[in-house]
Amino acid sequence: MDITFKKAEILKDHPEDSALGFGTVFTDYMFNMDYSPAEGWHNPRIEPYGPIEMEPSSMVLHYGQAIFEGLKAYKTDSGEIQLFRPEANLSRLNKSGHMLCMPELDEEFILEALIELLKVEKNWVPGAAGTSLYIRPTIIATDPYIGLRSSNTYRFFIILSPVGAYYPEGFNPVKIWVTTDYVRAVRGGVGQAKTAGNYAASLYATNLANKDGYTQVMWLDGVELKYVEEVGSMNIFFVIGDELITPELNRSILSGVTRDSVIKLAKSWGLKVVERKISIDEIYEAHETGELKEIFGSGTAAVISPVGNIKYNGKEITIGDGSVGPLSAKLFKDLMDLQYGKTEDPFNWIMPVG
Ligand code: COI
Repeated sequence: MDITFKKAEILKDHPEDSALGFGTVFTDYMFNMDYSPAEGWHNPRIEPYGPIEMEPSSMVLHYGQAIFEGLKAYKTDSGEIQLFRPEANLSRLNKSGHMLCMPELDEEFILEALIELLKVEKNWVPGAAGTSLYIRPTIIATDPYIGLRSSNTYRFFIILSPVGAYYPEGFNPVKIWVTTDYVRAVRGGVGQAKTAGNYAASLYATNLANKDGYTQVMWLDGVELKYVEEVGSMNIFFVIGDELITPELNRSILSGVTRDSVIKLAKSWGLKVVERKISIDEIYEAHETGELKEIFGSGTAAVISPVGNIKYNGKEITIGDGSVGPLSAKLFKDLMDLQYGKTEDPFNWIMPVG
């Protein structure tokens, strides 16, 4: 399929790298493509970033049939642009689409389209330390229909946003609030899919956490409210004794690309990494005995987010001395060094874009 290109009349001003937060600035162009049962995925095009015209009855607006991905493009010291494990994100996009009854995308073609879009928008990749170009591929259901079924037509798009740190805290410890009243996902639900509804479902408890002075929610499992699943919009890791522990993928946890990278990096250093069920009680017990050394979240947007405090059933504990732990710091640095091309890439995770 040929990708058509429509030139923008006016190009936007670029913000200063130092002024970048997360997710408020969008570049000049986006990629769009449509799906219909008769034509399959068709009309791939790079065109000016702008509103999507759709009917108020479009199914995505009513039943949330929407999936997305988050990945980043990084600028190296020599000005080259590179992606980090883009195939992993595109493969997960198709997995999420499968769960949301959406038509499959050709991952190779989407990667080509993304690279073409990035070549057009190369100048938008910021260069300051810790900044990057966040990439948001998305699929939405577009049938104008308000009966409940899966849509027949879809729009796929990719938008780009130059970003700095995800949390206002930057790479400083965040405070986490464990909810015992709300769950992010349930057994047999769509917790493992990167679908809009999972994020909508997280808002109410997050607001409660914020009101109590905490940045994010720690989610327990939706069956027993006992085992840790995720934290905020990230996967979660615990350093207990000499082990790095993360909840096993149980179909309600998102299979994070950064999670997987952390596991592989830590194993390559000879660390013992364990994927298993871990209860909130075990975490508090490990804190009591002094075995709980560090907690951190992992995600594309936040990279590594150290946790300084958690509160569960009204009891707040401080993790270590409340500052960034040595493993969190090393993982953050080594991951970023790989992503920004400052070190060799023994894992074959980096894809140069040009
Ligand atoms: C990401 O980490 O890329 C996500 O998609 C989470 C989102 C809430 C920013």
